[in-house]
Amino acid sequence: MALKNFLFALATAPLASAETILGVYMLHRHGDRTSKSYKPVNLTALGADQVYDSGNYYRQRYVESGADAKILDLSSDIVIPSQITVQSPIDSVLQISAQAFLQSLYPPVGDLAVQELANGSEFSYPFDGYQYIPVNTDAASNDHSENNEWLQSGSGCGNALVSSNSYFFSESYKELYSETQDLYQGILPVINGTFGAEEASFKNGYTIWDLINVALIHNKTISSEELLTESTMTELKTLADTHEWNLAYNASSEIRAIAGKVLAGQVLTHLNNAISSASAKPRFGIQFGAYATFFSFFGLADLPSASSDFKGIVKYASSMAFELFTDADPVSESSWPAEEDVKVRFIFANGTASSSNEPQIFPLFGLNEGEISWTKFVSEMQKFAIINDEQWCGACGNTTGSCAAYVNTVGGSSAEDDDDDSKSGLSVPVAGVVGALVALGVILGVEALVMVFGGIRLVKKGVGATENKIAA
Ligand SMILES: *[C@@H]1O[C@H](CO)[C@@H](O)[C@H](O)[C@H]1NC(C)=O
Ligand SMILES: *[C@@H]1O[C@H](CO)[C@@H](O)[C@H](O)[C@H]1NC(C)=O
Ligand SMILES: *[C@@H]1O[C@H](CO)[C@@H](O)[C@H](O)[C@H]1NC(C)=O
Ligand SMILES: *[C@@H]1O[C@H](CO)[C@@H](O)[C@H](O)[C@H]1NC(C)=O
Ligand SMILES: *[C@@H]1O[C@H](CO)[C@@H](O)[C@H](O)[C@H]1NC(C)=O
Ligand SMILES: *[C@@H]1O[C@H](CO)[C@@H](O)[C@H](O)[C@H]1NC(C)=O
Ligand SMILES: *[C@@H]1O[C@H](CO)[C@@H](O)[C@H](O)[C@H]1NC(C)=O
Repeated sequence: MALKNFLFALATAPLASAETILGVYMLHRHGDRTSKSYKPVNLTALGADQVYDSGNYYRQRYVESGADAKILDLSSDIVIPSQITVQSPIDSVLQISAQAFLQSLYPPVGDLAVQELANGSEFSYPFDGYQYIPVNTDAASNDHSENNEWLQSGSGCGNALVSSNSYFFSESYKELYSETQDLYQGILPVINGTFGAEEASFKNGYTIWDLINVALIHNKTISSEELLTESTMTELKTLADTHEWNLAYNASSEIRAIAGKVLAGQVLTHLNNAISSASAKPRFGIQFGAYATFFSFFGLADLPSASSDFKGIVKYASSMAFELFTDADPVSESSWPAEEDVKVRFIFANGTASSSNEPQIFPLFGLNEGEISWTKFVSEMQKFAIINDEQWCGACGNTTGSCAAYVNTVGGSSAEDDDDDSKSGLSVPVAGVVGALVALGVILGVEALVMVFGGIRLVKKGVGATENKIAA
C-alpha cells in the first residue's frame, strides 16, 4: 500500500475509553453474488455469510454492552427500531445483504423479549426471538440495482450520465482500448459462452472481469482456464478498476460522482441530527450500496491521496463508516458537548470486517489527520454534498418532471454544465454549520429527495437508459 506519512498505528489501536460515539453512518457493499452477465443477479450463500460476519463485527464494535466504540444510548440486545436506520435500493442482492447484516447486528434474543398477555399467556417472537428490523428503500438510489451494469444508468442525473459517457470518448479510454485489444481477444476462449468477439474488449472491461472473477469462485470447470494466469488476472482487474473509476469520478467533471455527492448529503444530514441533542434519534445509519458509490465518494473526498488503493474496486462486503465522537465527558442531556468538542473519523474495511480484518482509519480530503473537527468535516463535505432536491436538480441540470419546480431557481442549466455546484448554495460559511444545514433544508430535504427520485423511476426509460447501453 502506498501510504502517505500517516500514523496508522492509530488505526487499530483500542479506542480511548473516554471517548463517546455520538453517531455513525455506514455504507456497506453486498456480499458475494452471481455475475452481472446473467439476470437476475443473486446474492449467494457465501455472500450472505460475508455480510452476516460483518454485522457480527460491528455488533462488537458499536452495539454490545461494553463495546469499544459503543454508540451512545444504543440498545445492546433488544433492538429499538427508532435508534437505527437502514436503507437499501430496491434490489434483492442489496436488500438481502442488509437483512443478513442485521441478523447478526441484533441476533435473536430467545425469551428476552417475551411478552405477557392480559390472560397471562406469554409469547416470544418466532425463530427463537428473531428481531425484525425494517430495511427502507433508499429513494436516493432506487435504481442502483445490482441488475444494472453501471449505477449511473439508474441515477437519472442528466449531467452525470453525460459526464460518465464522455469517458468513452476520452483519449485515455481510446488508448487503453487499443492497447488491450489483444489481451481481451486472447481470453475469448474463456468467455465465449457469454461474450462474442466484438464484445471482448476494454469497453466491457468490468463485466468481463466480473464474469471471470465469479467463475473462479463458483465454477468447478472453466473452459481454457489455463489462459487465466496470475498476471492476466491482475491485468484484467487493474483494467476493470480503471474503467469503473473513470465512470464514477473525474476531477474536472465533479458531477460524474453524483452517487458520492448524494451519499455525502446523507452522511451530513444523519450526523447533523445525531449531534443536535442528547435525545436525537437515530444514531446509527446504515446504507447498502454499490462499489461505484464508494468510488464516487473516494474521489470526492480525495482518498487516493491517502492510498492509491482507493482506485481499486472494493471487495465484496466492504464497509466504510463515519464516526462522530467526543472526548468531552460526561455526555448527557445536561452536559451535551459543544460543537467544537466533536470530531469525525473515517474508517474503511476492504472486504468483510472482522477481528482479523479490522477497519482502518484513513484521512479524508487530502489532509494528514485521522480525526478532524466536526466543523472542518462539515465545511469540507459541503464543498460537494448534495443535500436536497433543489441542489440535485441544479447540479444534474434536470428541469423537467419533479425538477420543474426549481427551474426558476436553477436557471435552466445546460446539459454540459458540470461545474454548477457552486451556484447551489453549498459554499455556506463554516460558522454556525448546524444552523446552516438546517436552513438548507436538511430535514425536509430527505423527504423531498424521496419525491424527486420517486419521479425518476417513472421516467427512467429516457435518454439516460439509451446512453447507458453505450456505457455498458
Ligand atoms: C438467480 O436465482 C433464480 C432463482 O431463484 C434463478 O432462476 C437465476 O438463474 C439465478 N441467477 C443466476 C445468475 O444464477
Ligand atoms: C390467551 O390469549 C391468547 C391470544 O388470544 C391465546 O392464544 C391463549 O390461548 C390464551 N391463553 C389462555 C390461557 O387462555
Ligand atoms: C434528468 O434528465 C435525464 C436526461 O435528460 C433523464 O434521463 C432523467 O429521467 C431526468 N430525471 C428527472 C428526475 O427528471
Ligand atoms: C476527465 O474529464 C475531462 C473533461 O470532461 C476529460 O477531458 C478527461 O479526459 C477526463 N478524464 C478521464 C480520465 O476520463
Ligand atoms: C469457445 O472457444 C473454445 C476454444 O476455442 C471452443 O472449444 C468452444 O466451442 C467455444 N464456445 C463457444 C460457445 O463458441
Ligand atoms: C460459470 O458458470 C456459469 C453457470 O453455469 C456460466 O453461465 C458461466 O458462463 C461460467 N463462466 C465461465 C467463465 O466459464
Ligand atoms: C481493496 O481490495 C481490492 C482487491 O484486492 C483492491 O483492488 C483495492 O485496491 C483495495 N482497496 C483499498 C482501499 O485497499
